[in-house]
Amino acid sequence: MPKFAQRMSRAKPSAILAIAEQARQLKADGRDIISFSIGVPNFLPGPHVYEAAHKAIDNDSGQYGSNRGDTALIDAFLGHMERLGLSGYTRENVNIAVGAKHILYNLVEALMDEGDEIAFPTPYWTSYVDIAEMLGMRIKLLPCPPEQDYKLTPQQLDEALASKPKIFLFNNPSNPTGMVYTKDEIAALADVLAKHPDTWIVTDDIYNQMIFDGVGYHNFVQARPELAERLIFIDSLSKTYGMPSWRVGLMAGPKDVAHACLVLNSNHITSIPEVASAAGAAALSGPQDVPQAKCAELAQKREVVLDALAAIDGVTCPRPSGAFYAFPDISCAFGKSHNGRKIENDLDLCAALLDTKDVACVPGSAFGEPRAIRISYTCPTEQLKPGLERIQAFFAELS
Ligand SMILES: Cc1ncc(COP(=O)(O)O)c(C=O)c1O
Repeated sequence: MPKFAQRMSRAKPSAILAIAEQARQLKADGRDIISFSIGVPNFLPGPHVYEAAHKAIDNDSGQYGSNRGDTALIDAFLGHMERLGLSGYTRENVNIAVGAKHILYNLVEALMDEGDEIAFPTPYWTSYVDIAEMLGMRIKLLPCPPEQDYKLTPQQLDEALASKPKIFLFNNPSNPTGMVYTKDEIAALADVLAKHPDTWIVTDDIYNQMIFDGVGYHNFVQARPELAERLIFIDSLSKTYGMPSWRVGLMAGPKDVAHACLVLNSNHITSIPEVASAAGAAALSGPQDVPQAKCAELAQKREVVLDALAAIDGVTCPRPSGAFYAFPDISCAFGKSHNGRKIENDLDLCAALLDTKDVACVPGSAFGEPRAIRISYTCPTEQLKPGLERIQAFFAELS
């Protein structure tokens, strides 16, 4: 048999999707699984989104769409960016692709050569490593342990950028930690970025409408407008609008970068489907009651999660202010046993939790922090407390 490409030896399936699949399978086998694993919003978009999609089906031209993206969707996105406080962008600054994951893939392809360095904080979203490894990049990890609330410091950033990585990739609010940087923290990091002109800045901010406690969304370009010439903002409809399978990802950045992504689209996907574009435009420009209500609901669920974790001896959890993740440090369990089964690390813990309590969480090592586990708390409200009680019971049974 002829050989596969070398890059496939570096390609691996998403660790999160693997666990979610295992949980799904066990559920199908009749187990009472409560899943805190995959980062799905677990709600549906508003009716106006479906109306727009139906209308698009009725009017569907059946033609290929634009490589840049549908104009109505782009305009709706620009309106959303204005509301976020990101102004000065035009249609030519934008590109639409098949989800934020695809945008990220396009950016790495467009901006980096094999062997170039990409730098990002740990904990990181799993696909950052997977995409960079698959495309043959060198990865520089900037460790942000729970002791520093999983947040990057200006000094760390300054040191990391000294080696002139091609891309600095930043995620705010964070998956997996739920941390959100304050205006002052963003400004301090932006000052450092301004000192290092050789590095592209990619801000993956797809949870920008899921922020609690009035922290607000802030981007480096607001603090340092001159960064706009090398900063790319990534967004997605997957989480905020309850539309993960519509696969709408968006970026805004320098015109040349948007154009490069357009060229990649023209060779990969041509365009996203017209129906998804119409639904996306309606989501971004129509009533915002669903995302606003869901954000308030998530803030309440976060309290339930944090209260339950605080009641477990030895477990600590930096307080998240956004997205729908908590990332508790569970290393107090390492070296202990559960029903005679040794828990050496996060993988053992998640496996034992799933086997004995039917609760699925993702091991922190999938995100570069093996002392933690990720709890994605978007499950139906009635499952939240029972799921957390099972986790509490698990820890109580450790010896
Ligand atoms: C930080 C982050 N970026 C990007 C994505 C991918 O989003 P999309 O569904 O738009 O591909 C996710 C999905 O979990 C994410 O958490």
